Amino acid sequence: MSKDVAVLLGAGSIGQAIIRRISAGKHVVLADLRIENAEKAAKILEDAGFEASAISVNLGSRDDILALIEHAQKFGHVKYLVNAAGVSPSQASVQDILRVDLYGTAVLLEEFGKVIAEGGSGVVISSQSGHRLGALSEEQNTLLATSPTEELLRIPFITAITDTLKAYQYSKRCNVLRVMYEASRWSKRGATINSISPGIIITPLANDELHGPRGEGYRKMLRLCPAGRAGTPDEVGDMAAFLMGEKGRWITGSDFLIDGGTTASYWYGDLQYLKTTH
Ligand SMILES: NC(=O)c1ccc[n+]([C@@H]2O[C@H](COP(=O)([O-])OP(=O)(O)OC[C@H]3O[C@@H](n4cnc5c(N)ncnc54)[C@H](O)[C@@H]3O)[C@@H](O)[C@H]2O)c1
Repeated sequence: MSKDVAVLLGAGSIGQAIIRRISAGKHVVLADLRIENAEKAAKILEDAGFEASAISVNLGSRDDILALIEHAQKFGHVKYLVNAAGVSPSQASVQDILRVDLYGTAVLLEEFGKVIAEGGSGVVISSQSGHRLGALSEEQNTLLATSPTEELLRIPFITAITDTLKAYQYSKRCNVLRVMYEASRWSKRGATINSISPGIIITPLANDELHGPRGEGYRKMLRLCPAGRAGTPDEVGDMAAFLMGEKGRWITGSDFLIDGGTTASYWYGDLQYLKTTH
């Protein structure tokens, strides 16, 4: 029997928190570069009453994204797309960050924008990190937002990036701009698309960082941010569920910063000291 389908790229804590809130009664496709992550998440969801399948997908590959769409359409119409896959500055090289986070996300939006169902919705997980980059020129914004996907990695100010933090920040800024660009295309199919830019969210990796050698720096930042703590995957999940649900239908092409006030404080408050190091 054909069902509505919810597709999750990146079966980590943030992705799972979102998908649990929107997928009751649907078929959930869990896609991850590491099939064991997707299978582990599928088991957790199946044990909680969801119907799920797992597939190995590299977000940085158009062929893999097309194979993911083919897999998803076997179960029914794709109603929801969540992109919570990504690599961070401490995990990957400049080239890998740009290929996965910047190019891969743009291709994902392009290809799913051709098949998303009427009344459907998508969410891309960007990052507060994109909000720490100074303002780009209108021309740079337009290039990131509208360049054909195969030309994105050849844009001169992108090829000039040499450090991983900058690669991550430009990728996350590009995610937000691509979402703005895609909102018009997705609207032709009656679908919405938005991005969420989280601050530090406690996941197994973030927890390791908090208690690792650089932990004191992170703990100080969290103490000084307006909320005084890190966020939880569930708080990101609640925001995504609102955007993707009935009450969010007037919201599309937008980015939502959810960071306990960290960005506000980074630019104008107690966290300005980070400008010299982050
Ligand atoms: N945790 C945070 O504090 C935080 C803050 C801001 C933004 N984010 C963003 O949220 C997203 C999810 O992060 P998370 O903290 O849940 O991390 P996570 O590591 O728990 O989950 C990310 C998942 O993406 C998968 N993945 C990595 N490369 C991939 C690829 N090429 N193709 C497909 N899957 C791939 C990993 O295997 C992993 O399962 C990322 O885009 C990250 O940049 C996280």
